[in-house]
Amino acid sequence: MRDFEYYAPTRVIFGKDTHLQTGALLKAQGCHRVLIHYGGESALRSGLLKEICRNLAEAGVEYITLGGVVPNPRLSKVREGIDLCRRENVDFLLAVGGGSVIDSCKAIGYGVANPWTDVWNFFLKTETPRACLPIGVVLTIAAAGSEMSDSCVITNEDGWLKRGSSHNSLCRPKFAILNPRLTYTLPRYQTESGCVDILMHTMERYFVNSETMEITDSISESLMQTVIYNARILMKEPGNYNARAEIMWAASLSHNGLTGCGTGGGDWACHQLEHELGGAYDVAHGAGLAAIWGSWARYVYRENPERFAQFAANVFDIPGGRDFEKTALAGIQAMEDFFRSIEMPVSLSQLGLTLSEEEIHRLAFKCSFEDTRTIGVFKQLNMKDMEKIYLAAR
Ligand code: NZQ
Ligand code: ZN
Repeated sequence: MRDFEYYAPTRVIFGKDTHLQTGALLKAQGCHRVLIHYGGESALRSGLLKEICRNLAEAGVEYITLGGVVPNPRLSKVREGIDLCRRENVDFLLAVGGGSVIDSCKAIGYGVANPWTDVWNFFLKTETPRACLPIGVVLTIAAAGSEMSDSCVITNEDGWLKRGSSHNSLCRPKFAILNPRLTYTLPRYQTESGCVDILMHTMERYFVNSETMEITDSISESLMQTVIYNARILMKEPGNYNARAEIMWAASLSHNGLTGCGTGGGDWACHQLEHELGGAYDVAHGAGLAAIWGSWARYVYRENPERFAQFAANVFDIPGGRDFEKTALAGIQAMEDFFRSIEMPVSLSQLGLTLSEEEIHRLAFKCSFEDTRTIGVFKQLNMKDMEKIYLAAR
């Protein structure tokens, strides 16, 4: 196993009505003025935003608001947030929403706290942030895991580049309020897309080609089984509290580092491939991952069929034998069947994209940073490999 450091400093408050603790939590943080950052219509429509504002006012916490974060959050909104926070002397950011809103908050936090450079440089990785404004989260969708993660992903409209920043742990939220009931209003597509993202955050860490730890494997395999089981329940019963709760906690655990302990950090090729789709075609992140995972898996599994066979046996109860290749392929098939069963795409065309060879070439060119980098560790992929995987996913 590999040496590792596990650092998950976010205070988690989990359960019904927990969002009503927001004001008190902010008060305890000793902040002067809070920016409440949110997305499109959902928090307005459900009344959540109003409830949070009232809660802060009752606790005597000063705040301003900024909405309009879209999925695949944009750099222009980040810049608007940075200007606003500077003008209004904001010293704490409260995200009311999902991964997109939280990531927009993280980028704003970087921008305000590092006035010596332009915030996009942190996503180009030409500069490293030295500080970040403190962040709190009221989560409304279980998916990205940004509520406990150290990373954020922003799309620059100039070139439609979607790039991540995970330089250090500066941006991990101080607290995350997880009330499963706040996710009842999600459209089914978003719920299930979120479930795929949660699975992927564990699979990216699981499919590595080095020795791993038994305890991490067991945690990962049971987390995946739990997500698969409850994602199916939510197809029929969106108001099932227990299923919502299992999925919500799985989302945080899947991306706070726990499922990567001892595995050396993970593969992340599918995420890199998907980020190009999200940046260029604005697809839902989890759905984009579902559309390419099978093609990636079939392209790479021969590097270590035994690992895929372990996945098949321990996650899908597929009887293992000495024929690791056969078991591996059955496991890949089972995961794709699961994606189909929750109405997630298993190809780019099912994702709604009809891409020409030229467009696929452009995706691979961007993903490989103009043919200057490889991605993945289970199998290192160069630009040609990326192109083949996108083509196989058509
Ligand atoms: O904007 P509103 O109206 O709120 O609608 C949102 C949005 O359209 C809606 N929604 C959220 N909560 C809702 C709701 N609708 C009804 N009821 C609710 N309770 O859902 C849609 C998707 O929201 P978004 O925040 O985009 O979803 P998600 O949490 O999946 O975040 C996706 C973003 O996170 C990034 C992705 O790349 C993508 O940009 N990721 C961030 C990571 C991180 N920071 O650690 C890791 C991930 O791998 C991921 O890359
Ligand atoms: Zn993800």
